[in-house]
Amino acid sequence: MRGVSMAGARVLITGAGSGIGRLMALEAAYRGASLVLWDLDAASATAVADEIRDRGGSAAARGVDVTDRAAVSEAAAETPDVDVVINNAGVVTGARLLEASEEAIERTLHVNAHAPFWVTRAFLPGMLAQDRGSVVTIASAAGLIGVARQTDYSASKWAAVGFTESLRAELRADGSSVRTLVVCPYYIDTGMFEGVRTRVPLLLPILQPDKVARSVLTAIERGREQLVMPPFARLTPVMRVLPVRAFDAMADLLGINRSMSTFVGRATPVE
Ligand SMILES: NC(=O)c1ccc[n+]([C@@H]2O[C@H](COP(=O)([O-])OP(=O)(O)OC[C@H]3O[C@@H](n4cnc5c(N)ncnc54)[C@H](O)[C@@H]3O)[C@@H](O)[C@H]2O)c1
Repeated sequence: MRGVSMAGARVLITGAGSGIGRLMALEAAYRGASLVLWDLDAASATAVADEIRDRGGSAAARGVDVTDRAAVSEAAAETPDVDVVINNAGVVTGARLLEASEEAIERTLHVNAHAPFWVTRAFLPGMLAQDRGSVVTIASAAGLIGVARQTDYSASKWAAVGFTESLRAELRADGSSVRTLVVCPYYIDTGMFEGVRTRVPLLLPILQPDKVARSVLTAIERGREQLVMPPFARLTPVMRVLPVRAFDAMADLLGINRSMSTFVGRATPVE
């Protein structure tokens, strides 16, 4: 399996101003990549690019709302081809279905589910021309299992998983060497899901952001197609052989549907 080495690669990361986007950018730069950093919050992306340049790396930053198709096209037209796209920008509402605003539901689907289409469509032609590259989608374990208080988030992440798997099928059918990687982490301690709790930390720990960032980059370099973290979460699809009631009981036993009851999210959510 041919992956993409970070050394000498050009890597675009969306949502690169914060959380694992920022950490993947720093780690990719450390491994020798040059970075293109997009974020809704231009200042945060610029700060990360400055951090990378201060350490002797190469990075360019830009404020891009990845839900805005015209803005994505315009920014992509001014960006030379990249070897790796990491669709990382994401948002969460964290409310029950009837308590979430229509705007928040739409925003979640636009950022988490639709934006990977626009960003990938902008950069895939360049990868196909070189017959190398990697399209990475940061989905979630919520893309493998529905979770209470995550109707919009989980739906958006199931979409992200389906998007990547379908793209992988298209590329495989074409005999293309361009890879895809879908990443499905359980909760990560970045602040996005501030307040969530895990009932069985031994099996389902809250993940450390720097470790997740390193694992994603290693998976890209190794040409892996799927990364589910922690390892126990890989059993989710296997659990589906159970009758639905037993599957639901297992999820409840693991505390998955109570994990969001203490959710507060970011103090200042991105609007
Ligand atoms: N934190 C977790 O527990 C967790 C778990 C599983 C998956 N994920 C996923 O990992 C990814 C990164 O999450 P994080 O925890 O680092 O969150 P984060 O909030 O620290 O970072 C998300 C970044 O996306 C940016 N963003 C939001 N909307 C945007 C838009 N329209 N255009 C461009 N940028 C936009 C934000 O400004 C922010 O910098 C997300 O896709 C998230 O869904 C997170």
